[in-house]
Amino acid sequence: MTEEHGITPFEQPDAELDVRLRPHTFTDFVGQGKIRERLELFVQAARERGDVLDHVLLSGPPGLGKTTLAHILADAMGVDLRATSGPVVDKPGDLAGLLTNLERGDILFIDEIHRMQKTVEEYLYSAMEDFAIDIMIDQGPNSRSVRLNLPPFTLVGATTRSGLLSAPLRSRFGLSNRLDYYPREELAEIIRRSARLLDVEIEEEGALEIAGRARGTPRVANNLLRRVRDYAQVRADNRVTRETADRALGLLDIDENGLDEMDKKILTTVLEKFSGGPVGLGSIAVSVGEEQGTLEEVYEPFLIREGYLKRTPQGRVATEHTWHRFGLTPPPRQDGLL
Ligand SMILES: Nc1ncnc2c1ncn2[C@@H]1O[C@H](COP(=O)(O)OP(=O)(O)OP(=O)(O)O)[C@@H](O)[C@H]1O
Ligand SMILES: [Mg+2]
Repeated sequence: MTEEHGITPFEQPDAELDVRLRPHTFTDFVGQGKIRERLELFVQAARERGDVLDHVLLSGPPGLGKTTLAHILADAMGVDLRATSGPVVDKPGDLAGLLTNLERGDILFIDEIHRMQKTVEEYLYSAMEDFAIDIMIDQGPNSRSVRLNLPPFTLVGATTRSGLLSAPLRSRFGLSNRLDYYPREELAEIIRRSARLLDVEIEEEGALEIAGRARGTPRVANNLLRRVRDYAQVRADNRVTRETADRALGLLDIDENGLDEMDKKILTTVLEKFSGGPVGLGSIAVSVGEEQGTLEEVYEPFLIREGYLKRTPQGRVATEHTWHRFGLTPPPRQDGLL
């Protein structure tokens, strides 16, 4: 992935900022209404019964709030959260170490859970289901398995690639939630909230201007706000109007529609290499050098939602809008398909 302007949701140019702007309660968490309501309800129900919260899976493209929600869940339950990530836990012993250090009700947050080793994942099954793990001690003729009981805990798993989760793992989550891209108005609300926290004065129109270029993603919205803040500080009395935002983002070559480099690469590939399609996702993947599953779960949902791509039985097709966006004329045969 190229890093022309460093605002893609796939990197964290400013982790400190990410943490500083992270909402800590359901009330501060903007959008994703249904998921929020569901989680709040389950938290309340568990608390009223004095139960441990059921295991929760959070999936969706980068920067939409999975890690944020995991922390909110811990705060709302009044429990501690221990965070790790799939590739880090590479031996069953690592997992056992994490699990035996939990206290009743604690949350074990496993980010990128789709990247966990198969051998480790299998230990997780009984941990999630029976709150126990069987570990092998000794080797050779003396080897035997010992059952370790664990305190009841909540596993919160996050993944950008839910398609890669095995069925047995998936089925052990009581609650499964897929986060979706945010509409412009909600992103504007997030930007106004962040502006308050950063002490930046922002007009409604300024927030909307930034929101329109944020690729449906709160992390990108916050990163863009940071760029605009710098501009406003030096050139506009710390005040973000629509014009200031437009100038700042224009100066930085931030795409007007929020497309990032990979989005553009995918679309120009469909247009130029495959005459606008229909073309199979596999062929696009080979051309752009990205995994097919990543295209399907991370990039394509945004491009389809924004009306750049269509799914047809024959394959992906660029819309007329896409041809015009790249200053090209759609071939006549294209019309019938649209
Ligand atoms: N609904 C929201 N309301 C307000 N701010 C949000 C919301 N969702 C995310 N954010 C902001 O976006 C930043 C990125 O969110 P978060 O780290 O939770 O994303 P993620 O889904 O875990 O991404 P990744 O897949 O890259 O780990 C957070 O620091 C937070 O400031
Ligand atoms: Mg995260």
